[in-house]
Amino acid sequence: MTVPVIIDTDPGVDDAVALLLAAASPELELLAITTVFGNVGLEAVTDNALRLRALAALGHVPVAAGADRPLVHPQAERADRWHGSDGLGGCAAELPEPDGPVNARGAVALMADLLAVAPSPVTLVAIGPLTNVALLLAAHPEVKPHIARIVVMGGSLSGGNTTAAAEFNVACDPEAARRVLVEEDVATTLVPLDLTLRCAVDGAWLDELATAGPRGAALGRVIEHYRTQFREFSGGDAVPLHDSLAVLEAAVPGTLRTTALPLEVVYDHGPARGVLFAARRSGAGGRLVDVALDADVDEVSATVLRRLRRLC
Ligand code: BDR
Ligand code: CA
Repeated sequence: MTVPVIIDTDPGVDDAVALLLAAASPELELLAITTVFGNVGLEAVTDNALRLRALAALGHVPVAAGADRPLVHPQAERADRWHGSDGLGGCAAELPEPDGPVNARGAVALMADLLAVAPSPVTLVAIGPLTNVALLLAAHPEVKPHIARIVVMGGSLSGGNTTAAAEFNVACDPEAARRVLVEEDVATTLVPLDLTLRCAVDGAWLDELATAGPRGAALGRVIEHYRTQFREFSGGDAVPLHDSLAVLEAAVPGTLRTTALPLEVVYDHGPARGVLFAARRSGAGGRLVDVALDADVDEVSATVLRRLRRLC
């Protein structure tokens, strides 16, 4: 049985790997790729999504652009230090030219249209700021029964990568994240930084991908700047593939081990803006989110590589 999915993304180096992983995952039926501001601006991430669609031979999949800014307050910072000013490590222009136009309906309308007619509930994989998803749930509550679950890469319960305690996707739009993770009631699996950092892949993994074939070589070039930045930052040759974990969990539900927790997102303007926290117990009442805090780490990275090698 295939899993119909829509991927909402801000490519982004790890988003690029995640999109190729989706193309390499036979369980997934990719209905659309929607874009959201985030790692870099909307225009760049949308162009990147179109180029990655061409690289992955996904020409039949519509790409639609969504929010170019957060719901309420301007984006505090982008992530070009990690992803390069074009979002793909300075290599966006080396990828294939877009093989079709951007879908004119726009991300939220396209998601709503696809959900409304989907013969079975669809998994939303949200691997950028949660602005589009929050807008979808706010403007089209009638589609909620058509969402099987939302798999979100975002948040951290143990320290941030943007501020001391806030993770990038949540920090980009805390109001949207709060709506999706706290106020709404759609089944949600959250893949936080706590786990994605443990699943970082090493230099040997990256070298194997880069020599797997022409697509692997293109991905290897895209990853190079990200790899260098992490080497300078941590002193080691390893990079987190954050967003791929959400795609893998969507393709093979249960790959990540989850704990149902009540969440809160800080959205005031103090130093904790964008921080996610959880009561480390269930049964506290209210809405629970399945938070992926554990996995067979070696198996996850081996599976991602095995799949990518088939495609690359
Ligand atoms: C998340 O932030 C972005 O920079 C990555 O693409 C990922 O979605 C990790 O915190
Ligand atoms: Ca991302």
